[in-house]
Amino acid sequence: MVIGLFITIDGIDGCGSTTHSKLLAGFLENKGYNVFLTREPTNSEIGKLLRIYLKNDKIPPETDALLFAADRSYHYLIDIKEKQEDGFIVISDRYKEASIVYQSVQSERISTKWIEEINKFAQDPDITIILDIDPAISLSRKTQKDLEKFENTPFLDKVREIYLERAKSQNYYVINSDDIIEFVQGKIQKLVLKHLKQKA
Ligand SMILES: Nc1ncnc2c1ncn2[C@@H]1O[C@H](COP(=O)(O)OP(=O)(O)O)[C@@H](O)[C@H]1O
Ligand SMILES: [Mg+2]
Repeated sequence: MVIGLFITIDGIDGCGSTTHSKLLAGFLENKGYNVFLTREPTNSEIGKLLRIYLKNDKIPPETDALLFAADRSYHYLIDIKEKQEDGFIVISDRYKEASIVYQSVQSERISTKWIEEINKFAQDPDITIILDIDPAISLSRKTQKDLEKFENTPFLDKVREIYLERAKSQNYYVINSDDIIEFVQGKIQKLVLKHLKQKA
């Protein structure tokens, strides 16, 4: 089936973006679609560096934002665009929205406008799904070793607020992920199937 849909799943840490991206990919593959599952930071050298920097408090948020934008332009132009053109359903576990929200919350010097500007070569997805959850719950799902520099409740409360504001102004889908996995995944599948029907 040739379809070329680009979906991203985003939200605060521990919201379940990785869990649900994987489950959605499996579900759509079973339905006979060609699916390309990918994630950010990517597995490129830039993405690997980012994963190290995300554990380091001393790295300025501007540096993170620029590296994310570099990783993303590569990700979009080399991977995503090509797969989309080949008719794949592309699912990215986090994408542009994470940068816009996380890096702008970290510093008053960083505006969402600037982050949008440095990310302008990476096209917007067709569907952006924000998984919404209380940070106190999402953090309790993570192990200590997985925690990154901004994974604390007050910071994530602010991040959550900005995700919800952005979802409203940009017309993103918001799905509550404080529920059993199957139930949350069911809602995601229903939403994506509706889009696929409209495209067919
Ligand atoms: N709805 C849920 N209920 C309980 N645990 C969940 C739920 N969604 C995800 N998890 C668990 O929470 C942890 C973090 O989920 P993950 O998908 O890695 O989040 P993220 O990628 O958004 O940080 C994982 O161990 C996952 O199995
Ligand atoms: Mg994840």
